[in-house]
Amino acid sequence: MKTPVAESRSEAASPGPDRPVLSVRDLDVTFRARSPVLAVRGVSYDLAAGEHVGLVGESGSGKSAGALALVRLLPDYADVSGTVMLDGADLLRLNERELRAVRGDQVGIVYQDPFSSLNPVLTIGKQLTEVLSKHKGLRARAARREAARLLETVGVPNAEERISDHPHQFSGGMRQRAVIAMAVAPRPALLIADEPTTALDVTVQAQILELLQELTSEHGTTMLLITHDLGVVAGVTQRLMVMYGGRIVEASTTEDVFARPAHPYTVALHRSLPRIDARQERLVTIEGQPPDPTRPIEGCPFAPRCPSRIDRCTVENPPLMTLPTARRATTAGWELPTISERDGNPVPGPASPHLTACWNPPLPEARSAGAGGAG
Ligand SMILES: Nc1ncnc2c1ncn2[C@@H]1O[C@H](COP(=O)(O)OP(=O)(O)OP(=O)(O)O)[C@@H](O)[C@H]1O
Ligand code: SF4
Ligand SMILES: [Mg+2]
Repeated sequence: MKTPVAESRSEAASPGPDRPVLSVRDLDVTFRARSPVLAVRGVSYDLAAGEHVGLVGESGSGKSAGALALVRLLPDYADVSGTVMLDGADLLRLNERELRAVRGDQVGIVYQDPFSSLNPVLTIGKQLTEVLSKHKGLRARAARREAARLLETVGVPNAEERISDHPHQFSGGMRQRAVIAMAVAPRPALLIADEPTTALDVTVQAQILELLQELTSEHGTTMLLITHDLGVVAGVTQRLMVMYGGRIVEASTTEDVFARPAHPYTVALHRSLPRIDARQERLVTIEGQPPDPTRPIEGCPFAPRCPSRIDRCTVENPPLMTLPTARRATTAGWELPTISERDGNPVPGPASPHLTACWNPPLPEARSAGAGGAG
């Protein structure tokens, strides 16, 4: 007998050009504790086939919690609600067995620390062949051949020999290459890369980003690239979503977010980027603290740190709006009808316009002054 999920999956059409690969709606993540931690608050977005999308924001903004919740990799004390549609099935409603098949087969994950994805007592080759046998049904010999080929593809020199090494015999960059090989081996529809370069030195960072971009482009894989560093996503993604206090506060094409940031927080993030075209005595940081995730937020979560704050900001939390709507909201004051009456609830996606959750978005001059320029 088919489970309701299997039934809904078989009835659903496979993703086409207009159909998102991943569709997230109203995702909430709360860690149960004496003071519950509201890590992700009502996040919605779509990712299309083959897109590379960046998710950026300061430490603690909910990037990892929101990404790990998609494939239910959070601890038991995390309450997750909303819907996460992938290939016609809601991942939040799959059973454990179905989920295990999705992880690896349809969704590959690359973490910041490659050690967390590698078993220290097994050789790199053994771990790769296991993935290939499990997800591609290859027999031992074919799996070993394919493992060596994959290691070579990701740039591990002398792959035939290095396949017998244990993880500790690889450098940090090589370990991350091996993890990437494992994540892309089953040709997943979606690759989640959570700070994949943070633990690496700058030259290796650039090589790993290039590798991720090459492999995902070659296979038409959708990539969600998570980072706290705007500089990392500049050349690798087509779209950006900026997170603050567990919410998406700005979303548009990468070019737009760099050239015309429409949220004061994004402008501040730009200013904190080291500039290569200007002499800077010290790195600029964003003053003030991010919101306490254990407390409900009244008004805009960025209000205590925001130079553009107006009265409305401390009372009413701005939803994501199209930029023209946000501008009207600035000038029209408090008497506006609700957002849903004006332009629905726009969701970041491949065709969505520039969105901002701000009652007083920066003017073009202020925005370009803060922009570091897409590189
Ligand atoms: N396992 C956990 N148990 C309790 N709280 C958690 C857990 N994981 C994350 N949190 C809390 O949830 C909030 C969001 O954390 P998250 O790890 O998603 O942030 P992040 O944006 O990925 O930050 P970073 O850039 O540091 O990785 C933070 O307040 C964090 O302390
Ligand atoms: S809504 Fe107000 S406080 Fe929030 S970012 Fe916009 S201007 Fe600043
Ligand atoms: Mg994180």
